[in-house]
Amino acid sequence: MTDTSQLQADILAQIDVASAPDALEAVRVAAMGKQGSITLLLKTLGGMSPEERAVNGPAFNGLRETVTAALSAKKAALDEAALNAKLAAETQDMTLPVALPATGSVHPVSQVMDELAEIFADMGFAVASGPEIEDDWHNFTALNIPESHPARAMHDTFYVDGKPDAETKYVLRTHTSPVQIRTMMGQKPPIRIIAPGRVYRSDSDATHTPMFHQIEGLVIDKGITLAHLRWTLETFIKAFFEVDDVVLRFRPSYFPFTEPSVEVDVGYSSKTNKPAGAGQADKWLEVLGSGMVHPRVIAACGLDPDEWQGFAFGTGVDRLAMLKYGLTDLRAFFDGDIKWLKHHGFSAFDLPSISAGAVL
Ligand code: PHE
Repeated sequence: MTDTSQLQADILAQIDVASAPDALEAVRVAAMGKQGSITLLLKTLGGMSPEERAVNGPAFNGLRETVTAALSAKKAALDEAALNAKLAAETQDMTLPVALPATGSVHPVSQVMDELAEIFADMGFAVASGPEIEDDWHNFTALNIPESHPARAMHDTFYVDGKPDAETKYVLRTHTSPVQIRTMMGQKPPIRIIAPGRVYRSDSDATHTPMFHQIEGLVIDKGITLAHLRWTLETFIKAFFEVDDVVLRFRPSYFPFTEPSVEVDVGYSSKTNKPAGAGQADKWLEVLGSGMVHPRVIAACGLDPDEWQGFAFGTGVDRLAMLKYGLTDLRAFFDGDIKWLKHHGFSAFDLPSISAGAVL
């Protein structure tokens, strides 16, 4: 009995003075390891008579429990002390000013997307999004491009492998227009959204990359006409290019999901290298596709086309960025070249805002 209490007192004293995790671990191994003092003591129970065991069994096991509890209490205390020390060493002074120059920059595409979101937010548009792996129905069928429609060939589609016999086919979305469908099915009109994002087409040369960025716009309400579309686009182009006069040319075009469809050209001045008003513009630049949302598309989303009308437009964000910031090679956008990014990127603190330059 005395041996047991002496051993217990010794081990508890060692635990008490252990001031680091490895010292504590050494105490644990010396007591409870394969050759540990308590382990060996417990082994002696096997050779004892039942009477001796009745006395020593509870004593030895009590010793083991006391030491185990003391070890884990000490371990918890050491862990907490270590954590507190780490926290104390790593404190951050949240009131310090930002250390400039910060590394990294905002890519022109991200900058332009933020600018567009800012401009359209000012006109009451919300930002919507949809999946990049899209099903065939949202990307084509609901947009009035059925299976055999020749317009499917206009989009060089990447198909995503699924089960060969599966009913749903998946594609990498070829445009942001499926977000029109998801929005009309997900919320009640009136709707005013823009949807920026990545799109994919199996196409690649100096002016086409297999992945590029579009921004979709959709307005659904009562009594919407082409005049609303025209005003919206004019306002957006003026704000985006920071010019106070601009002339737009609406050219009849064809998209299966709009009727009528119009392609929009902006009057451009080669003198200022910016969109310009009637007097100054000396050439036209095609900037976007648009039109009045086709009644069949509205019906496919479960809305009554006699009650709801609207317009939609879609434009290439990369191209807008090239025009606004004078960038010439689209492929450089996706090279990840640090030098290019440093030169053409924006500071994270350069937040786009309507008041900072954009004219509305
Ligand atoms: N989705 C069309 C494209 O990718 C653009 C567009 C959008 C046209 C909305 C009309 C209306 O070319």
